[in-house]
Amino acid sequence: MYEYNEFSKDVYKLTGIDLSLYKERQMKRRIDALIARHKLHGYEEFVKVIKTDRDLYEDFLSYLTINVSEFYRNPVQWKTLENTMLPRLMNAAKGRPLKVWSAACSTGDEPYSLVMLLSKYMPINKVTVDATDIDKQIIEKAQQGIYNGKSIKGLPDEFKTKYFEQLGRDSFKISDDVKKRVNFKQHNLLADRYPVGYDLILCRNVMIYFTEDAKDVIYRNFYKSLNPGGVLFVGSTEQMLKADEIGFSSEASFFYIKP
Ligand SMILES: C[S@@+](CC[C@H](N)C(=O)[O-])C[C@H]1O[C@@H](n2cnc3c(N)ncnc32)[C@H](O)[C@@H]1O
Repeated sequence: MYEYNEFSKDVYKLTGIDLSLYKERQMKRRIDALIARHKLHGYEEFVKVIKTDRDLYEDFLSYLTINVSEFYRNPVQWKTLENTMLPRLMNAAKGRPLKVWSAACSTGDEPYSLVMLLSKYMPINKVTVDATDIDKQIIEKAQQGIYNGKSIKGLPDEFKTKYFEQLGRDSFKISDDVKKRVNFKQHNLLADRYPVGYDLILCRNVMIYFTEDAKDVIYRNFYKSLNPGGVLFVGSTEQMLKADEIGFSSEASFFYIKP
């Protein structure tokens, strides 16, 4: 009998995504729903089909990786970033540009929000944000920079007027000035080498999909990626269990500092 474990191994061979590091119940529920939607019968048939059907393969990847995002997601936390974390990071940097990474950036809402926020405190052409995601298609979407009203509803009005052009009734295009400041790259948090030297890393609303063991490895990697004094900003349901053990101190909810 071809079970989820074997399916998981085949998916790894096909996509490089290691499902065993994602929470099984949640993943299974999503995959089962996709299989049912395509009227297929079980994992074995599904694997056979995605080997040849490119569209379904791409759909599967997008579906697996859950790309929901929005600008300024959880605005209260962005206020803490602006009022508490950024001043201390900028103080410590003494005029040197901040090195910032939005990991698992999805459609770009997060790295673009960062550019806008940082542009309040330094000339926009001095801002750069590295942005990565495992999903190549979603990075292409991020690079197009077109959003609906729902995506930008939480964004402060000053940024909406300054950095967006309305294309249609519910379609808004981000300005090239912001777009140019973000370097997008594909990166798998569970497999790839982590870049280093960051002052600020955002990794939000992706850890919820990973097993505790996988999270532990990722948080330790982020610790190494940060400069001393650097800040890790996590999602609103993603408090770190072993922060002390890893070496982080936490001075505000959802913000972890490398001493
Ligand atoms: C829900 S979105 C979060 C977007 C944004 N950070 C936010 O909080 O709004 C989750 C993103 O994680 C990405 N992702 C899933 N597994 C990943 C992995 N192993 N490495 C890197 N990104 C991954 C998905 O492709 C998706 O774009």
